[in-house]
Amino acid sequence: MPCASWEGVDAAELAARCGVPAAHLHARVDSTNDVARSLADEGAPHGTLVLSEAQAAGRGRAGRAWASPPGLGLWLSLVLRPAPGAGAPELLPLRVGLGAALGIETAAGEGAARLKWPNDVLLGERKVAGVLCEATWSVGRAPSFVAGIGVNVLHRPADFPPELRDTATSIAAATGRAPDRVALLSAIVAHVLRLVDAPAGPLGPEVLAGIARRDALRGRAVLVSDPATGRATLHGTALGIAADGALLLRTEAGVLRRVLSGSVRPTGADVGAAVAPDHILPANP
Ligand code: BTN
Repeated sequence: MPCASWEGVDAAELAARCGVPAAHLHARVDSTNDVARSLADEGAPHGTLVLSEAQAAGRGRAGRAWASPPGLGLWLSLVLRPAPGAGAPELLPLRVGLGAALGIETAAGEGAARLKWPNDVLLGERKVAGVLCEATWSVGRAPSFVAGIGVNVLHRPADFPPELRDTATSIAAATGRAPDRVALLSAIVAHVLRLVDAPAGPLGPEVLAGIARRDALRGRAVLVSDPATGRATLHGTALGIAADGALLLRTEAGVLRRVLSGSVRPTGADVGAAVAPDHILPANP
């Protein structure tokens, strides 16, 4: 059910503040990604924003549920129609993750957000935001994409489901300050749209440097697992993110491995900050 305003701001004003062609506001939907995907199928333009105060069936990566209670977060999706010849679609999730991190830093402080490959945003060691990018292809039409972003904004620890209390945080819980959700939304949307409007080719120096500066895994021992089965697939030290979006790992045998998909978590056996930035390799090393 659409609604006329959010945080006292009507849809036209919110669209103007976010710099998008239209904002679709809802009190509750199953998933803003589904609403955005329907709008994309109907021809909605690049940058169309869908925002819901709550989601009944918010989705995370690897088929996980995303808790989306009312009044506490930002649950939003953007329709993306990259220009012909624009940057590779498989790099969209990394660009969107960095855009979300930069937007969150307007409330949490510059450099405060960290990125856990591919696109979890952390404050400290806890997850504050996640990104779910989905593509739609239909015959005879250019592909369109939906970038879903969930940000925990005002939660107190008790507002998280018990199973998330040790690993999740909100901006308010991490900083002790309750941000203005409208200002936060417009900052995130502006950064994401700027970063997805990228020329063709691998990640450029600005994006690579932005990710490297916030890389929560570099220099740490990590375990890569298959998100569908939970089975561990690789163990090594994270060296950074390559220009083609791969996570670079050095195995215990000293072999360089490139990870293109999977779930990653630090195992605790860190080597500290001993990995120098010159280990960040160009695409396809
Ligand atoms: C993850 O980290 O697993 C990704 C979470 C993405 C959640 C957002 S909330 C808005 C949009 N709608 C959804 O159903 N999911 C994304």
